[in-house]
Amino acid sequence: MGTRETVLVLGANGQIGTELVTALRAKYGNENIVASDIREAAQSDGPFEILDIMNAAAATEVIKKYNVTQIYHLAAILSATGEKNPRLAWQVNMDGLLNILEASAELGVKKVFWPSSIAVFGKNSPKRLTPQYTITDPDTIYGISKLAGERWCQYYYRTRGLDVRSIRYPGLISYASKPGGGTTDYAVEIFHEALKQGKYTSFIKESQLLPMMYMPDAIRATIDLMEADADKLRIRSSYNIHSLSFSPAMIAAAIQMHLPDFTIDYAVDFRQKIAESWPASLEDSYARVDWGWKPLYDLAATVKDMLENVGKKI
Ligand code: NAD
Ligand code: SER
Repeated sequence: MGTRETVLVLGANGQIGTELVTALRAKYGNENIVASDIREAAQSDGPFEILDIMNAAAATEVIKKYNVTQIYHLAAILSATGEKNPRLAWQVNMDGLLNILEASAELGVKKVFWPSSIAVFGKNSPKRLTPQYTITDPDTIYGISKLAGERWCQYYYRTRGLDVRSIRYPGLISYASKPGGGTTDYAVEIFHEALKQGKYTSFIKESQLLPMMYMPDAIRATIDLMEADADKLRIRSSYNIHSLSFSPAMIAAAIQMHLPDFTIDYAVDFRQKIAESWPASLEDSYARVDWGWKPLYDLAATVKDMLENVGKKI
């Protein structure tokens, strides 16, 4: 990143934003990273703005005020919350994205990062090693909005020359901030309950494999993609990336290596159907070739680090 870059992070108070802002500030200086969210921040070590992405004029004002040159747009409604309020999810995820793409193109923002998700795939997509290009028939409103969002990103790149970059994140595991209403949230809750109660009731069934990733890998991937040479990037919709593939039974067994008395039982709910429509693992060779993506955390390392850090928090 050049010395005169100013980065705006939208949805900065969420599970990813909390850690991305910290990582960006450590790398580029607190004053160069403007955090923003619709909610007040618990704390901020640099500039912070209350900003609703549905308000295009307010977004334009903030971009102008700070001479923003890069945007990480993380504000969204996730899969499980989206199913409870599909219209709201569509409006925030779609109109919000269009507001930011349009303002970025108009104001000459140099680069925009926007995350897509494994939710773009559906029940007719191949389950294992799901290819970059394959059937995408999402069932959830969240997945539908992510798939449409990918096409809009590609469209703004092609028609307006906007340098948009995107990753299809898998379920993200982290301890700094709680997850925000997704189907993969069980893989975070399980650590808190294991340490507090010694047991966990999973809303996802025992054998359900899902793609997952530890947050440090996701943050590194995000910044690496934003720093990659533009002419090496063959994909302007969204890149598959893969790290872990495990089921509730498998993560429970990994936790039992540290907490032998930990037990898990199952009471599946509507989120199981969502999980069933998603892949078990992804094929990610485009990301590996184009910008050197490689995960560093396996399941054992993720579980060890999570238990240590969740333990410190509680
Ligand atoms: P989150 O729900 O934890 O955080 C989203 C943030 O957006 C919240 O702080 C919320 O207050 C804010 N927000 C909501 N509506 C807003 C609005 N109208 N204007 C401004 N801010 C608003 O989500 P997250 O897990 O940090 O996810 C960030 C992005 O990554 C989303 O696009 C999500 O779809 C994507 N993603 C996340 C995961 C994951 O496992 N966490 C996986 C795949 C994709
Ligand atoms: N973790 C996200 C969710 O479950 C996937 O995009 O909604």
